[in-house]
Amino acid sequence: MKYRSIKGTKDILPGEVEAWQHVEGSVRRVMQRFNYHEIRTPVFETTALFSRSIGELTDIVTKEMYTFRDRSDESVTLKPEGTASVLRAYIQNNIGEQASLTKLYYIGPMFRQERPQAGRLRQFHQYGAEALGSQSPALDAEMMIITLEIYRALGITDTMLKVNSVGCQRCRPRYKDLLIDHLKKIASQLTPDSQSRIQNNPLRVLDSKDEGDQRRLRDVPLMKDFLCRECSEHFVEVLSLLDEGGIPHQIDGKLVRGLDYYTKTAFEITSSALGSQDALAGGGRYDLLVEELGGKPTPGVGFAAGIERLIMVLKKKELLPSAFRGPRLYIVSADKNARRWTFQRSMELRRHGIAVEIDYLERSVKAQMREANRMACELVLIVGERELSSGSGTIKNMTSGMESSVALSQLESLFT
Ligand code: HAM
Repeated sequence: MKYRSIKGTKDILPGEVEAWQHVEGSVRRVMQRFNYHEIRTPVFETTALFSRSIGELTDIVTKEMYTFRDRSDESVTLKPEGTASVLRAYIQNNIGEQASLTKLYYIGPMFRQERPQAGRLRQFHQYGAEALGSQSPALDAEMMIITLEIYRALGITDTMLKVNSVGCQRCRPRYKDLLIDHLKKIASQLTPDSQSRIQNNPLRVLDSKDEGDQRRLRDVPLMKDFLCRECSEHFVEVLSLLDEGGIPHQIDGKLVRGLDYYTKTAFEITSSALGSQDALAGGGRYDLLVEELGGKPTPGVGFAAGIERLIMVLKKKELLPSAFRGPRLYIVSADKNARRWTFQRSMELRRHGIAVEIDYLERSVKAQMREANRMACELVLIVGERELSSGSGTIKNMTSGMESSVALSQLESLFT
């Protein structure tokens, strides 16, 4: 084979694509119920947009972005996530001037050059939402509820919601100093990876996947215990909205996200049906980001969810509808004359909205019947010289095996 798809990318083939349509349909229906409007942004953007928003020292920016110089020597990057692009579009198109609160959603491909493994791709797909213009904790709770509603609509009810507050510019610096002091004291017992993060990205140390690290981090100070009054009140309100709504959740003081733009709320939803890459979705509040990207100060909150991981869970739980839906009618042609008639008649029926298939390979009647069966067609009609001269034929229901006579000029009536 001369050309193969690039490592970490996948074709979505017929038979699989139906699962994607099923997921996308649920996403659109739920988003509409919550009054979010779809936005589509370009697949690549100026590199600085991402390094500035996601954070210069994050893994995404330092190791994972697909960045290249185009022919005009401009540095561009395939989008590793959706939030930065949505905010850029929001600012550029003055969307905030049309209404004081803007609710947007998106579905599309994202790109990160990570080491491919189950549930981790280099081109993957996310759906997500961003609400811009309000500091209300109700929107933080709404984001979590939307994420869970989409899973519920698809039949998944056993996910785990973890919530934390990562503070703000006022309370985080003081906490960071405390954390660095603590981490320095136990540095020699931590993995080299964690040691190297202490100075540059100390919060990410909390996220270490190493069990030994986690044991040693047991007594580490947590941001949630050092929040300023505003952040603390916000966090309490988010949690009580979840409590009142009967939304099960767990406070996870070590939850830090791989993107630097968060303030106050951060959350993640995991599934035990997944392996080591168990995060189905993540999100949080980012009250400073719009301003940082050159817009007017505008608070925001959002989430994004991985579609490949969701489909893995749906498959594992056998929650996917049967893949193929065959054409409703297959017209078998018995000879050359019938073939010409069948071609024209199938065009008319399709124009009436009926899914019809015919033979294009000059196969025998028997082979055409076999093909209709393979395609799981609902009805089959055989047309030959006798049918054309009498103007009527026999139609067979492929599920029940029942046969009935039908006028060739009235095939449409079978489907009304
Ligand atoms: P994120 O946590 O980086 O957040 O990604 C969200 C979800 O995308 C993950 O939970 C996971 O399901 C999926 N995902 C991420 N990387 C990969 C990968 N390499 N392969 C397969 N799936 C992946 C964000 O992207 C933020 N923009 C979320 C957000 C929106 N925060 C506020 N608004």
